[in-house]
Amino acid sequence: MSNIKISPSILSGDFANLSTSVISAEKWGADYIHCDVMDGVFVPNITFGMPMVKALRKYAKIPFDVHLMIVNPEKFVDEFIESGADIITFHPDVCADVQGTLDRIRAKGVKAGIVLNPDVGSSIAAKYIDSVDIILLMGVYPGFGGQKFIESVYDKIEDVHRIIGDRNIELEIDGGVTEDNIDEMIKRGINVVVGGSSVYKAADPSATIRRLRG
Ligand code: DX5
Ligand code: ZN
Repeated sequence: MSNIKISPSILSGDFANLSTSVISAEKWGADYIHCDVMDGVFVPNITFGMPMVKALRKYAKIPFDVHLMIVNPEKFVDEFIESGADIITFHPDVCADVQGTLDRIRAKGVKAGIVLNPDVGSSIAAKYIDSVDIILLMGVYPGFGGQKFIESVYDKIEDVHRIIGDRNIELEIDGGVTEDNIDEMIKRGINVVVGGSSVYKAADPSATIRRLRG
């Protein structure tokens, strides 16, 4: 049995029926539900916020993996926790207090992590390595689903995997994951996989989820 977890991104689901997208992902065998929160400032797109996470939370039992693509995430993490987030990742480059925010999330029993955009170096992962439960590496510049994976990120997966060492920290990849490139990612140390278009646009999403486990 593979130990790779799959986190389908409802960004590629049906926005008129997101509860159905959540229910379906769990039924297809997903491990997490990936929620992409975008503010139109940090990224050139706007999606949804805490009320949507809260409304959707009751439609699945598996953990909600909330990816905050917003400036000043420290202002909102408490409300995301109250809304039912089980994992919260944020971009440290737009957070006023990275250490304090990670500590606050974890103090409430929620997993915390930082996200590295393709142009953010792995040294920031080293800096916070003893304060995170998960590190999310972007395979694309965030904002939209369905983009092509940026190949230079392969090296960063290896770097961050080395930094993690034998710590119990998940290493998640987000953006541009397909059935064709997943093996390269797993080989380098990825153990949580976000699938947006690859899962929701698949002819047989259950089969795709099985395939993305490597
Ligand atoms: C990108 C989002 C991703 C996105 C991935 O800004 O953070 O989670 O939904 O979509 P795919 O898998 O289609 O690249
Ligand atoms: Zn995401």
